[in-house]
Amino acid sequence: MVPIIPLELSQTLALRRAVLRGGDPDADVVVDTDRAPGCRHLGIVVDDEVVATLTAFPSSPPHHAQNPGAQQLRFMAVSPEHQGSGLGRALLLAMIDELWRAGATLIWANARDSALGFYQRLGFSVLAGSAFTSASTNLPHHVVELERSDG
Ligand SMILES: CC(C)(COP(=O)(O)OP(=O)(O)OC[C@H]1O[C@@H](n2cnc3c(N)ncnc32)[C@H](O)[C@@H]1OP(=O)(O)O)[C@@H](O)C(=O)NCCC(=O)NCCS
Repeated sequence: MVPIIPLELSQTLALRRAVLRGGDPDADVVVDTDRAPGCRHLGIVVDDEVVATLTAFPSSPPHHAQNPGAQQLRFMAVSPEHQGSGLGRALLLAMIDELWRAGATLIWANARDSALGFYQRLGFSVLAGSAFTSASTNLPHHVVELERSDG
């Protein structure tokens, strides 16, 4: 099984830019929540290269009242040459497991419509009526969420 490791924020930035911002050198790839208490970055390194990254931080989803157990996922990215080989699944499952162990009760994300099927494969629901267009990418998104099943 491929090792999933904690990453420093700085280790995530090149892949975020390449995969999620089309390589735009001027795109903002660091957000305030990257330095929020409890923020964590996980990733996969192959041959000394970061090929998959995912960030999570405490945040209530817009459709729920203040939810202290909610964790938001952001910047899910797998390098193009490794997409479709199970790395995204392995990374997301590892993050879910870590967040449940840390006491999360709800995991959610603003997901690109082009990736909704990926999240659904991993058990997430697409929130009805949550469609919006991202200001940073101009791409259609929906909210996806996964509730802890054992309470
Ligand atoms: C979306 C992404 C993270 C998925 O990672 P991946 O390593 O390519 O996906 P995996 O190989 O682990 O696929 C796991 C499962 O999800 C499915 N899947 C993967 N990407 C999918 C997509 N875009 N749409 C629908 N299903 C998808 C796979 O077919 C596989 O299904 P299976 O259960 O039949 O095997 C990756 O392709 C990526 O970085 N894409 C570009 C950036 C992006 O869209 N990020 C998400 C932003 S919200």
